[in-house]
Amino acid sequence: MQICFTTESLRQALNGERHKGNTIAVVPTMGNLHAGHIKLVHTANELADITVATIFVNPMQFGRNEDLDKYPRTPDADINKLTQAGCDYLFTPPVSEIYPDGLDRHTVVTVPGISERYCGASRPGHFDGVATVVSKLFNLVQPDHAVFGLKDYQQFQVIRKMTLDLRFPITLTGVATEREPSGLAMSSRNGYLSSDEKITAAQLYRTLQDTAKNVAATGNHFRQLESDAVRQLQKEGLRPDYFSICDAHTLEPADDDTHRHPGQKLVILAAAYIGNTRLIDNLELTLT
Ligand code: PAJ
Repeated sequence: MQICFTTESLRQALNGERHKGNTIAVVPTMGNLHAGHIKLVHTANELADITVATIFVNPMQFGRNEDLDKYPRTPDADINKLTQAGCDYLFTPPVSEIYPDGLDRHTVVTVPGISERYCGASRPGHFDGVATVVSKLFNLVQPDHAVFGLKDYQQFQVIRKMTLDLRFPITLTGVATEREPSGLAMSSRNGYLSSDEKITAAQLYRTLQDTAKNVAATGNHFRQLESDAVRQLQKEGLRPDYFSICDAHTLEPADDDTHRHPGQKLVILAAAYIGNTRLIDNLELTLT
């Protein structure tokens, strides 16, 4: 695997690949790689001739009081995992390479609507940071394919809209969430949790599963099911941030009425705190 630290060396290397007629897939990450990230790399390997992973802890998507400074950085282990997974290039630039004029003097990509609810409401500016850095990575790598995890469901939809709106000629692929045996979605932030907290954290997915079953059993009393789920999470020792049954495409809250729409794709989006650690998860379902 070749490692590039500058945009210039990345461009040169990838120009060579394109010249040979090779197609390129990119896997953007913030490092501290786990099996979920590696699944994205395997997917990229299948989609294109060349896989480019990026590791960049993007300061623009962290709020002032968030965990930018303590976000786990494990470059040596990450390089080993990527090499073993058959990744061809790693782009891991310093902050000065991506934001040479500083964060406050940088063009911002804002995706209206879909960015505003849920994580966008709890983390103001977060999706501006994501959309800005991903659009920049798209321009630097100029990939044919880009691979993202559906664990960050809203992020995927934000990037999808940005890709359509800005006419990036890139095919996006979303990969299903990789989980611990307990059901807990793998996340770099799980490293902040004690073993007891990890057991509590697994309740987030269990509550999503229970709610999906209740949707099937009880019909469209979505707001009621959402407040039941919030209470269940609180009882288990989590502090829910949001829990919402929504349309899988628009992410608008699903209609809470007696008229069922068979075939409608829904997603249940959830975020909850354990101590200071914020976890997100989701579950897709189709109405019958
Ligand atoms: P990061 O949290 O490192 O995640 C990188 C990619 O891995 C994202 O597409 C995310 O959805 C995916 N991912 C994380 N956990 C996963 C799991 N358990 N199963 C499957 N995929 C998983 O998301 C980001 O970084 C950043 O916001 C980024 C897109 C890189 C922009 O800075």
